[in-house]
Amino acid sequence: MNLIKKTALHGKHMCVATGLALCCWLGMGNTAYAADTRLAIEHLGDGQSIVRIEHPSSYLLLPVEEGAEESKVYVIVNNEVIKNLNVRLARKQVDYFVPLSLQAANGQSVVVNVQLAPGGSICWDEMKLSDTFDTTNREPLRPTYHFSPAYGWMNDPNGMVYKDGEYHLFYQYNPYGSMWGNMHWGHAVSRDLLNWEHLPVAIAPDALGAIFSGSCVVDSENTAGFGKGAIIAFYTSASERQMQSLAYSTDNGRTFKKYERNPILTSDQRDFRDPKVIWHEETQRWIMVLAVGQELQLYSSPNLREWTYESSFGEGEGAHAGVWECPDLFELPVDGGPQKKWVLVCNINPGGPFGGSATQYFVGSFDGKRFVNESPALTKWMDYGKDHYATVTWSNAPDNRTIALAWMSNWEYANFVPTKQFRSANSVPRDLALFTRNGQTYLSSTPSPELLKLRDKATTTSSFKVARTHKVNTLLPQPTGTFEIELTVQSNGANVMRFALCNSKGEEVEMRYNLLDHHFVMDRRKSGQVDFSKSFATATSAPLASGKTFTLRLFVDKCSVEAFDGKGGFAMTNLVFPSEPYNSLRFTAEGGAYTVTNLKVYPLRLP
Ligand code: FRU
Repeated sequence: MNLIKKTALHGKHMCVATGLALCCWLGMGNTAYAADTRLAIEHLGDGQSIVRIEHPSSYLLLPVEEGAEESKVYVIVNNEVIKNLNVRLARKQVDYFVPLSLQAANGQSVVVNVQLAPGGSICWDEMKLSDTFDTTNREPLRPTYHFSPAYGWMNDPNGMVYKDGEYHLFYQYNPYGSMWGNMHWGHAVSRDLLNWEHLPVAIAPDALGAIFSGSCVVDSENTAGFGKGAIIAFYTSASERQMQSLAYSTDNGRTFKKYERNPILTSDQRDFRDPKVIWHEETQRWIMVLAVGQELQLYSSPNLREWTYESSFGEGEGAHAGVWECPDLFELPVDGGPQKKWVLVCNINPGGPFGGSATQYFVGSFDGKRFVNESPALTKWMDYGKDHYATVTWSNAPDNRTIALAWMSNWEYANFVPTKQFRSANSVPRDLALFTRNGQTYLSSTPSPELLKLRDKATTTSSFKVARTHKVNTLLPQPTGTFEIELTVQSNGANVMRFALCNSKGEEVEMRYNLLDHHFVMDRRKSGQVDFSKSFATATSAPLASGKTFTLRLFVDKCSVEAFDGKGGFAMTNLVFPSEPYNSLRFTAEGGAYTVTNLKVYPLRLP
């Protein structure tokens, strides 16, 4: 039942409707109260509405419909815009709510000017004020030991920096929906790379634009003048054009102040983004690497505020079938020995080996001015899955470690994966090293040692022979979908050694060591929900070192499978969306038999 009564607001007659926002034409637009009677809504026509809030609560909860076009929302206090954002305000159905904080209004009355949202939309009935926003996990496919945002959209990891026992993780974040938009830097901290504490947004969009990807450094010597030990963040201010800006924190990342002379670096290039800043010990200068279309540009600075162009890298090097993004630059020992080489990481989208996004890298030398690739004819990929992108490393990591983190998704379908409350998780953290194979230097990604702390007591299966097929029926007594498998396979004649993670619904992720063409393959075509995108149902493959015996570590967490070669030869990261957790293994041999030795299944849980 709709109750309609006449009331007076600001001297005007208007309708108050509960249950349905009703229109009442009074010459100056039509005004209604939403189901939440503290909201007075005037529809002005042409998709524009004014929402007046006299006594704002902490949040205005905005109803979102993912299929809807974006509406523009301006939060106005005393005639000034204090926040503007784009939201897919629900037209016909509400998929979920997002909280719009009104705290900055400090109790003053708020006007919300909404554009591009038709007056008849369901959002007007469903919008409500609240002092709380419920972030309790409602997603069965939310990972447990991989980082994911409490709600909303996440892409690239940003600004990763270690300081005073804390790993900071910032990330490309949309707090106003689970699809890309309104880029902020979200923020979380961890002491063990496993348990993450969500912190408030660190850097929000401003008049220079959205806050795109970037990096942080600890300015231990106060070269920038913002304070000894300040955390300095570099990000791209993105509007029509892209430019680099700086923000600093003198309270261990809890709050950031934007530098008043932003932007600090501009260009006439359309793609000019994702600053990664490192300290170059030899030349005693800061170096910034930027992704600029099809190349990387290097700049140097004595003080983090003024930057000088040094060189460009990219022409004729590596893969170029897409835009270069999110670079990184670091030095690593080769084969653990005294010799060191520089690694230049360059994410590319599209143009990855399996379509869409991927991470390539170059190995060579860097003198503080110019990076020289030692093998220009070779394209090297850091991970052979389809869901490993925007990979960068922690600045200032302890014990000389180089720890990388990837966004575990792919721009081909990231916006459509079957979750709602949140979208996207990161990979597990990986320690990087360099190794030599056939005279070439490659990057190995090994699960960071912290991940061992996730292990509960293993179930060990004594070695068995796979002549044709063999089943391990139950992996965990409670099928949680969060486990690590360690196994070694040894061919006794088999030329293809297959094994599949299966559930009782007939869904499976099939993996195989193919000794005919020397590849490890992961096939997710039957893994569960795959039809949300044409390019999801696929198999990915990694080149294998020669030999007959292979050891593997598999990390499974609700919606992902990450495979790591025991010797660091390859890493492969793929998303999967099973309708029930995988909880059995099926082994199949082709062309002869193989032996599985050392099969261990560890239930994984946060310490
Ligand atoms: C990579 C990227 C970056 C950009 C950010 C925007 O995924 O496109 O180049 O800074 O995402 O969210």
